[in-house]
Amino acid sequence: MTAPSTRLAEDHDGTPTRSLQLRVNGAARQCQVPDDLLLIDLLRDGLGLKGCHCGCDTAQCGACTVLLDGVAVKACNMLAIQARHREISTIEGLAPSSQTLHPMQLAFSRHHGLQCGYCTPGFVMRAMAMVDEPVPASPEAVRQALGGNLCRCTGYEGIVAAICEGLTVLRAQRGQEPQA
Ligand code: FES
Ligand code: FES
Repeated sequence: MTAPSTRLAEDHDGTPTRSLQLRVNGAARQCQVPDDLLLIDLLRDGLGLKGCHCGCDTAQCGACTVLLDGVAVKACNMLAIQARHREISTIEGLAPSSQTLHPMQLAFSRHHGLQCGYCTPGFVMRAMAMVDEPVPASPEAVRQALGGNLCRCTGYEGIVAAICEGLTVLRAQRGQEPQA
């Protein structure tokens, strides 16, 4: 099924626009976007996915992290048109229902991996990408893998503990051996 078109051309006077087809959280989307539109602006303003947060706008903080075909990317640092025919996953698509959190979200809740929460969608999506990366579920490895995500509130202890647990739970659900 194709969702209604999103038209952002009127926000960018004089900039050429082109058609963009992509999938977002499992749904086909068709948009008409200016060439210079950033992915974060398409997600937030065009598609209403406000969980993709803008912290720095310069590819440093990771608050805008989403998955592009399963790989973590910073949505403030790529053009919307670069997502053509790709699959974007955001925090809004993670929980299986409005009543049930995803195991990675549950781990963040259990380990108090957030305070103000502004950075949290980016951390959770970065953690989701880690499930498929050769990142052992150890504090040292997780801290290293989190090099592109910043939190000004928590001190990171809860975030790291949550991701270690989330990686362990999700890999076990897939029948994967723990990574050394
Ligand atoms: S807003 Fe994208 S990395 Fe900070
Ligand atoms: S919880 Fe506030 S910035 Fe991370």
